Amino acid sequence: MSDFKSISEKTILLAIESSCDDTSAAVLRGAKVLSNVVATQAVHEQFGGVVPELASREHQKSIFPVVTVALEQAGISKSEIDAIAYTRGPGLLGSLHVGAAFAKSLSLGLQKPLLEVHHMHAHILAHFIEDGKDIPELPFLCLTVSGGHTQLVMVETPTKMSVIGHTLDDAAGEAFDKIAKIMGMPYPGGPLLDKLSKEGNPDAFVFPKSKMEGLNYSFSGLKTAVLYFLKKEMAKSSDFIEMNKADLAASVQYTIVSTLMEKLDQAVKQTGVKTIALAGGVSANSGLREAVINYAKKQDVIAHIPALEYCTDNAAMIGMAGQFLYSEKVFGRVSNAPSARLPF
Ligand code: KG4
Ligand code: ZN
Repeated sequence: MSDFKSISEKTILLAIESSCDDTSAAVLRGAKVLSNVVATQAVHEQFGGVVPELASREHQKSIFPVVTVALEQAGISKSEIDAIAYTRGPGLLGSLHVGAAFAKSLSLGLQKPLLEVHHMHAHILAHFIEDGKDIPELPFLCLTVSGGHTQLVMVETPTKMSVIGHTLDDAAGEAFDKIAKIMGMPYPGGPLLDKLSKEGNPDAFVFPKSKMEGLNYSFSGLKTAVLYFLKKEMAKSSDFIEMNKADLAASVQYTIVSTLMEKLDQAVKQTGVKTIALAGGVSANSGLREAVINYAKKQDVIAHIPALEYCTDNAAMIGMAGQFLYSEKVFGRVSNAPSARLPF
């Protein structure tokens, strides 16, 4: 039996997400998403990664229109909102400040409570959004893979979860993006590498898989191995990347996905869970989605894969996490500052 309070179907939340390079606002009634607006910042493409100062400036430009459109699309007026949920961390501090300041101003102006959401909890809690898919049965094990994090999380209840494994250096999304950058792709390279890999042979090149102790991961060695391999090959033939890009992408993707799957398997066996889930931006990866589905069939566990719109950063997941906080009356404070390294 679950020991968490169930959320009210009537509670209307406005949610704001601004932890990295997406400005997003959503309106939820209970677990139903009435709107979920995301403004993605194209400005970073040319720099090969997110430039923090530019990200916060873009959030400043987008936050008001994004919130306005989210309310309009939901058909909800400001006076109907019961509380305002926002991402308190972790993330880029300058980006977090924009969403936090906006949420606090609304909270003060409307005299409605604030809900401080942990971004990584929210990625996982996106599974509780009412979108026609089954909700994972508790407890479940979630592989949370994003641009900043790679974690194996035991979810006991929506407000009680613990990290049982994590990356000691780069996150899986970071590995995708950095390797894509080495291959000459713009930021974020993860989705581009995924697309390319569909036409490539995953066995064409063999890259090393890290062997960390316990349930931890490491991806920085792979990035370095790919870098040195490509430097060597490009010295011999300057069109090596161009001639082999699909095979390179498929081989890199295979290495990252199989590394993720090995520890997931170890964690399933160690904990004895019967339900697993994927969360975070990298859960949009076609190879990882397929690997988790096949694994579940073979191991007789139930797998939950998020809808694509709830994989990468979005405010609907912040609203969903906010609903659980609201039901437990865990309200935030205007005096609390956002935190780049908010503890899990
Ligand atoms: O969760 P998210 O939107 O932001 C963070 O919280 O970091 O994740 C973004 C990450 C980026 O590294 C991006 O390249 C990766 O998710 N990503 C993908 C795919 N779609 C997004 N990586 C591999 N394959 C994809 N299809
Ligand atoms: Zn995220």
